[in-house]
Amino acid sequence: MCGIVGYVGPREPTEILLKGLKKLEYRGYDSAGLALFYEGKIKIKRCQGKLSQLEQEVQNSRYCATPVQNHFVGIGHTRWATHGKPSERNAHPHQAGPIALVHNGIIENYASLREKLLSKGHAVSSETDSEVVALLIYDHLKSGCDFEKAVFLAIQELIGSYSLGILCETEPNKLIAVRNGTPLIVGVGDHENFIASDIPALLEHTNKFIYLEDHEVVVFEPNSLVIKNIAGKEIKKEIHHIQWTADMVEKGGFQHFMLKEIHEQPQAIINTLQDRVVKDKNVLYLKDLKLSEDEIRQIRKIYLVACGTAYHASMVGKYLIESFARIPCELDLASEFRYRDPLIGEKDLLIVTSQSGETADTLAALREAKKKGAKVISICNCRGSTIDRESDSTVYTQAGPEIGVASTKAFSTQLVVFNLLALHLGLTLKTLTPEKAAPYVQDLVRLPYTLDEVLKKEPEIKRIAEKFYKKKTFLYLARGMNMPIALEGALKLKEISYINAEGYAAGEMKHGPIALVDEDTPVIILAPKDKYYDKVLSNLEEIKARAGIVIALGSEGDLHLPKVADWFIPLPQKSENVMPILLTIPVQLIAYYIALKKGTDVDQPRNLAKSVTVE
Ligand code: AGP
Repeated sequence: MCGIVGYVGPREPTEILLKGLKKLEYRGYDSAGLALFYEGKIKIKRCQGKLSQLEQEVQNSRYCATPVQNHFVGIGHTRWATHGKPSERNAHPHQAGPIALVHNGIIENYASLREKLLSKGHAVSSETDSEVVALLIYDHLKSGCDFEKAVFLAIQELIGSYSLGILCETEPNKLIAVRNGTPLIVGVGDHENFIASDIPALLEHTNKFIYLEDHEVVVFEPNSLVIKNIAGKEIKKEIHHIQWTADMVEKGGFQHFMLKEIHEQPQAIINTLQDRVVKDKNVLYLKDLKLSEDEIRQIRKIYLVACGTAYHASMVGKYLIESFARIPCELDLASEFRYRDPLIGEKDLLIVTSQSGETADTLAALREAKKKGAKVISICNCRGSTIDRESDSTVYTQAGPEIGVASTKAFSTQLVVFNLLALHLGLTLKTLTPEKAAPYVQDLVRLPYTLDEVLKKEPEIKRIAEKFYKKKTFLYLARGMNMPIALEGALKLKEISYINAEGYAAGEMKHGPIALVDEDTPVIILAPKDKYYDKVLSNLEEIKARAGIVIALGSEGDLHLPKVADWFIPLPQKSENVMPILLTIPVQLIAYYIALKKGTDVDQPRNLAKSVTVE
């Protein structure tokens, strides 16, 4: 999963491309490169390592472009290695003769294509599938096609996913882009145009975007862009105006995007509730949910499918929907769903959850369900993303751009949307009366203010977290609707601090995990005063009896918990439907402050990418 940027316009593009790549570094950051024209020739600058290495190289070598007919074109790329280890020669852009190219995706038939090209006398200089695409275009160019025709012929031979930015020395003021299987958008500027893998890369220059669909090709020339379908026919596309501002993407004074986004959660939840709940009444408007009352009545089963943190949100969703709407729910990891020949059919509803809207496994699950006739709703944070566009309807989280690789505000707003959905379904089916819904809706509406209260405990949480940053194993325990938060807390710690952590249903302890407990194992127990409290308390005693260190997240006013736990973080006691969201803040902060103390790269943890757009 990589980041692509491209530029066509009157400005010298080096800085534009580098700053655009900086905004995409969360998508992959093991190597990066640029391709520009200098005196009519393509010049490529590539570096292994973070983008800052490339910036340094560009500066030291005074790498820049010269105009062609008063215009510049250029492409850039930041890589997350799929084929070929991170190295300069595997970095993009790749060049083949007069062609330079950047690629995001996986070419599944690259080996056979490479054999064919080698047999025609071409030579390869990298281990990547991307270089094969550049060679294929070059091969068609050599057979007499012009640049555009060579691209169209080459992409017909590709199997797999590929978003491309391509330059050609024979037509130096043209840039061709292709979108297929991985995200690529067009930024429409004043006398200049752009391509990028994601909106934040271009917000500084424009808020007008065109979302490309699979198999669409864009031919950019100075002051013009033409979009064509795979058959080469020109097509008209809508220009969307996005209200995100460039500073929304900046860190806003926080040390990391992740901490900024933890603190943005109250506002993100306000934005997600906007126009969906009538204040002081228990009326919910989910106008973006295209499900009629009749369709709701006919739902046989709801399948909840996602990856990672979005899967944990779906776990909470199952509890909420089954509790409020009494509709049976089945949970699946997206990477498993399509391979088990699921029994989903026309009478079923699939709800996919995805922050990016581009996760390959989740998208594949959506397509599998549609193939089997099911209706598909997505809970998504990125309008215009592939999952958004391929769903029958999307209930958007309004979290704004989430840059930190570790998902935080997207997760809490996903939980809010699951609340809204479950309440809407329950009230529609009358399995939930407005009177019974009242406390749930009110605590949801008040949630942003309650979270502000929880965030005030940050210094205490930081102090506790820092005591344990050298520990090697953590356990997270909870029951009921809070159990997924134990899993989420463990995932947060793993992915940003690289410390092993396990989340478990507290009732599972005696079935194995308790063997992990000793005086060196911090155990984070979520123990609010709910119907599971006594059971969780006995689990806590079992941990203490084995000298485990207990950090308990519990209810303000609980006088017993602080006596039995080693550390106690009191939280407001609210309705059960919002407690998972309240408990999420402390586990996010614990992971953040442990990682900070360890000095790991919080926003761009090793081996990870923000959106996994390949299998
Ligand atoms: C969460 O912190 C991780 N970054 C990861 O598990 C993520 O939730 C998962 O890859 C799903 O991404 P999506 O929500 O964009 O589909």
